[in-house]
Amino acid sequence: MQKITIAQLPAHAGEQVKIGAWLSNKRSSGKIAFLQLRDGTGFVQGVVVKAEVGEEVFAQAKALTQETSLYITGEVKEDTRSSFGYELAVIGIEVIHEAVDFPITPKEHGTEFLMDNRHLWLRSRKQHAIMKIRNEIIRATYEFFNENGFVKVDPPILTGSAPEGTSELFATKYFEEDAYLSQSGQLYMEAAAMALGKVFSFGPTFRAEKSKTRRHLIEFWMIEPEMAFTEHHESLEVQEQFVAHVIQSVLKNCPLELERLERDTTKLEKIKAPFPRISYDDAIKFLNDNGFDDISWGDDFGAPHETAIAESYDMPVFITNYPIGIKPFYMQPHPERDDVVLCADLIAPEGYGEIIGGSERIHDFDLLKKRIEEHKLDEEAYKWYLELSKYGAVPHSGFGLGLERTVAWISGAEHVRETIPFPRLLNRLYP
Ligand code: 4AD
Ligand code: MG
Repeated sequence: MQKITIAQLPAHAGEQVKIGAWLSNKRSSGKIAFLQLRDGTGFVQGVVVKAEVGEEVFAQAKALTQETSLYITGEVKEDTRSSFGYELAVIGIEVIHEAVDFPITPKEHGTEFLMDNRHLWLRSRKQHAIMKIRNEIIRATYEFFNENGFVKVDPPILTGSAPEGTSELFATKYFEEDAYLSQSGQLYMEAAAMALGKVFSFGPTFRAEKSKTRRHLIEFWMIEPEMAFTEHHESLEVQEQFVAHVIQSVLKNCPLELERLERDTTKLEKIKAPFPRISYDDAIKFLNDNGFDDISWGDDFGAPHETAIAESYDMPVFITNYPIGIKPFYMQPHPERDDVVLCADLIAPEGYGEIIGGSERIHDFDLLKKRIEEHKLDEEAYKWYLELSKYGAVPHSGFGLGLERTVAWISGAEHVRETIPFPRLLNRLYP
């Protein structure tokens, strides 16, 4: 008999097949047992009818414990009541390994308990759905950048310099030298853009931020495109097309997962380019006019501010041209103003906050050198970076999208801890 996966069942309707699976849940009466089976590729119900399988197989089915691994043989049947559309009429059961007292039962558990058991919690339906959506976002990301002429470049993880400021660095020893875990590959991506034109990276990022919010991870994954001969407004167009492509791909390819998560997809269906833009100046004015007296020009937004701004739109919104004082050294000043820079943060709807930070980069050698001095950065460490603006400097722009915040938004997860397989949080390095 052919051994297939649950995802392959629809192509075998009416046939007898064999699948490897774990038992995720079970219900039974005196005559019939319903086995909830999962194999990673999907979930299917196995129906065991005593009158058909006989006493022995039926007793075996009734005794199965949660997470026991099995080979199951059965006939694939259409089942219009489930969203998957198929079920398995069980013929035989072979236990591979019996699981005893699996800690995560179908009842409610507390967050810390689930986090301590993350290695097992990943098997649950909800977590499975979030991981599948994460995977689809990753797939759609590669698709978008490959189709648009970008080259994937991998910046180093161990670095000697700190693009986003020095306070949030994980320091380590690099033999005799000091090194830091990368908090952004951007500066290396700028070098790569001067060699390859349009590039993107996709890798882990480390921030020793003492933030304990539902949006902050210590280790997260970032997609960082960088484009030569590209001005800020052109970069915004790439950003909105990229985000819209990711959303439309998840809607198309993950309908069962979105349903499992009870995600209201009507809000996602509306997400199409172009996205609205609001200047930082206008955003501050909007907040002050709407009862926020805790923020004034020059301050950075907190989560409640971002949420209030986002609530006026049913699309992600770009907040553009932030004050120079609250942004990193490399951002290109506004051509007509010296107090703001050519940058934007993209704020997701529904309170998910900033998902992209991006800007045009300074390409004037003298200005860049001055900014490095003003920020009191170690000039020796940035010597190579400065050289990029010495040899054929061009206007260039780029951005960074945080994968986990994007997964949280699209899947409707309450907290980023559920959007990465093994989250690294302020007080958690285990499992
Ligand atoms: O705004 P950030 O700090 O921008 C940069 O690092 C730029 N160098 C990117 C670039 O232009 N190449 O981070 C970019 C995005 C944020 O918008 C957010 O989505 C995510 O990374 N992010 C985090 N996600 C989870 N946990 C954290 N602690 C995060 N910090 C940033
Ligand atoms: Mg940012």
